[in-house]
Amino acid sequence: MSMRAVLLQTPGDPPSVADRRRPEAGPDEALVEVTAAPITPLDLLCATGTSYFGTPRTPYIPGVQGVGTVDGRPVWFPTAAGMRPGDGSMAAAAAVPKSDLVPLPEGADPVLVAALGLSAIAAHMALTWRGELAAGQQVLVLGAGGVVGQSAVQLARTAGARRVVAAARSPAGRGRAERAGADAVVTLDTEDVDELTARLTAACDGPVDLVLDPLFGAAAAAATRVLRPGGRLVNLGGSAAETSPITSSTLRSKSLRLLGYTNNELTAEQRDSALTTVARQAACGALTVEHEAVPLDDAVAAWKRQATGAAAGRIVLIP
Ligand SMILES: NC(=O)c1ccc[n+]([C@@H]2O[C@H](COP(=O)([O-])OP(=O)(O)OC[C@H]3O[C@@H](n4cnc5c(N)ncnc54)[C@H](OP(=O)(O)O)[C@@H]3O)[C@@H](O)[C@H]2O)c1
Repeated sequence: MSMRAVLLQTPGDPPSVADRRRPEAGPDEALVEVTAAPITPLDLLCATGTSYFGTPRTPYIPGVQGVGTVDGRPVWFPTAAGMRPGDGSMAAAAAVPKSDLVPLPEGADPVLVAALGLSAIAAHMALTWRGELAAGQQVLVLGAGGVVGQSAVQLARTAGARRVVAAARSPAGRGRAERAGADAVVTLDTEDVDELTARLTAACDGPVDLVLDPLFGAAAAAATRVLRPGGRLVNLGGSAAETSPITSSTLRSKSLRLLGYTNNELTAEQRDSALTTVARQAACGALTVEHEAVPLDDAVAAWKRQATGAAAGRIVLIP
């Protein structure tokens, strides 16, 4: 029996949509009927063949996460597509180890949970676990127009942050950060660290306790300058740059803590518990993210829009 699937044939090229044989579940696997699969930065990066996981074995079905049903019950699931040999979520069905399935709470919209997924898990864990956010603290979220950023603005508030300042590059991104509920939104349209520092200082209510940084580059350098002594910056991405002009004097004069974060370090229990927290917040209306549902047959154009930053939010493929 065949199914429709997104297929990556050549690293660096966009994928196609093709008919593939439906997978069969192995002994410890379940066959998930996929209802929603997002196109994320990690999918795009792995498909270029330049990720730190190396060149993927092709052809493969991309999709590092998805939402679907098993025996009619809704579940979220991760995959290693593009990072290790094997297929991912962007198809009508996926064979997934039973131990990787996370049941969704009642009332959680599958498309929204797919849009939030690993980006919201990262925002939650980087804020609370790695970043040790405490109630009453001031948080600065860089790249706040992205899914990590929009999630972080809302999750910081839920965790009791006193003030949440957002920073984003494009007018659309700043709009998303504002709608996510940021107290102030700073424009990141220059590489001038002094200028960015002045803007952040004006938007913040005194020194910042915690910076959530998916960007690195000039914005991260400016953010270290507005941290309080002993403040933390958690970096979880390099969307702006692979390096940052952070200075030694800024770091050492305030004994700052620069921390890295990756979802790949989480235990399965941590990841599942974080996804459950995210899905519960989504189900009760406390967490949302701007997204667009697109039929899987239109995946090629959608992939290009997500890759070029032309999408209005996270694109979620519907098989
Ligand atoms: N460490 C982890 O475990 C983990 C997990 C999930 C994601 N991530 C990483 O976190 C980053 C963000 O993920 P996401 O899901 O939020 O992605 P996303 O929804 O695609 O958002 C990316 C954001 O990056 C901003 N951006 C891109 N280039 C920029 C630049 N040169 N200067 C300033 N802003 C720039 C864009 O801002 P505008 O909208 O303003 O243009 C966009 O909102 C990615 O690098 C991703 O790989 C890491």
